[in-house]
Amino acid sequence: MNPLAEELNRTLTGTCAARLLSASGTRMYFPKGILSQSAEASEKAKVFNATIGMSYVKGQPMILDAIRAHLPGLSPVEAVAYAPTAGVPALRKRWKEELLRKNPSLKGVPVSLPVVVPGLTAGVSFLADLFVDPGDAVVLPDLFWPNYRLILEERKGARLATYPMFTRSGGFNVEGFKAALETEGRVRGKVVTILNFPNNPTGYSPTLAEAEALVAALEQVAAGGTDILVVSDDAYFGLQYEEGTLRESLFARLAGRNPRILAAKVDGQTKEDYVWGFRSGFLTFGCPGFQEDQYEALVKKVMGVVRSCVSNSAAPTQYILHKALETPGYEEQKARYRKILEERYRKVKDFLARHPAPACLRPLPFNSGYFMSFECDGVSAETLRKKLLDEKGIGVIALQEKWLRVAFSSVEAEDVEPLYTEIFAAARALMG
Ligand SMILES: Cc1ncc(COP(=O)(O)O)c(C=O)c1O
Repeated sequence: MNPLAEELNRTLTGTCAARLLSASGTRMYFPKGILSQSAEASEKAKVFNATIGMSYVKGQPMILDAIRAHLPGLSPVEAVAYAPTAGVPALRKRWKEELLRKNPSLKGVPVSLPVVVPGLTAGVSFLADLFVDPGDAVVLPDLFWPNYRLILEERKGARLATYPMFTRSGGFNVEGFKAALETEGRVRGKVVTILNFPNNPTGYSPTLAEAEALVAALEQVAAGGTDILVVSDDAYFGLQYEEGTLRESLFARLAGRNPRILAAKVDGQTKEDYVWGFRSGFLTFGCPGFQEDQYEALVKKVMGVVRSCVSNSAAPTQYILHKALETPGYEEQKARYRKILEERYRKVKDFLARHPAPACLRPLPFNSGYFMSFECDGVSAETLRKKLLDEKGIGVIALQEKWLRVAFSSVEAEDVEPLYTEIFAAARALMG
């Protein structure tokens, strides 16, 4: 093993992070090669700096006018230079402040400095590189973002251990979650789970009582001697529409909870700031008792993953996002869009309250986010999807033949009623 990896592993010795690392996570390190020599040179090479693989004129990176014309608010460095592997320092620092502001339970809880990754997908995938070995189980609700399958099952060779997401009374199935953690935890004494709220595809966020119960369940499993990596995928953070639902990230309640629980937060501005194509996200860790050097060791391991596959995240989007965070009116602008999404959500709720769904479509609980889903009973979700598309020009998503996901986020409020009227009519027609 590379001595730098050995050094990071030594720093992490005795922590749940060390026990949770996969084989490749254990091997991972951030090389001291070209990048650190360049960093050293940028401090000390006052005469000529011939280290970095970029081209400069008069101290500035070369930039084509054809490029510059489209990025008038950015300096040449911001527009075209490489960003540091872990991300633009000012953005990382600012995002950490944002985390504390948006998640009051994090007050006084030490967490790592967020590492910039190219989107939340990359965040999940990088965590899988560090913590998931072939054959490992990853505990998920049966309703999950389908890309987890591609990342975990197909890329990493992991096994998805699912539990039914909802109880019969329509709440989050905390008992099922706990039972799955216990079963899988017994296999290797450690387990990885992802909790994604507001959830894709259901649009569900736990109630405050359910959030407490989830944390208690995790603590009980940890107390039984299982190390747990809990990934909070907070893609839809902040889009809760009902009182009494958990508005902060579960990460905030887990980061300082139990030395056997390593909390990892995957989040970013993709959906929070309506910049889907910017490809920017963050990875943050929290675990009680972790010292600064141990967080730094984890960050170095993430940097090794970043360096070995995407090298670094896009620079212009990081600088734009940092400037946006500093721009007066940023919060108000976000609030306006959030209100629009909430209005669409309320229209769906209102329609469903006034129109009983056909017997073959059961609306699943939803209270947040972008989506709601129907459980299909007696009709195939795929057949219904195709019928809506081919006969009505309406696009929705079928998941595993069983569920139909509707992204109300992308439909104007006045179109909600006609959309759902057509969905119900098509389902009735299929029932015959
Ligand atoms: C639950 C969940 N996580 C992650 C992502 C991906 O985010 P990004 O576009 O930043 O990779 C999505 C996007 O659809 C999502 O629904």
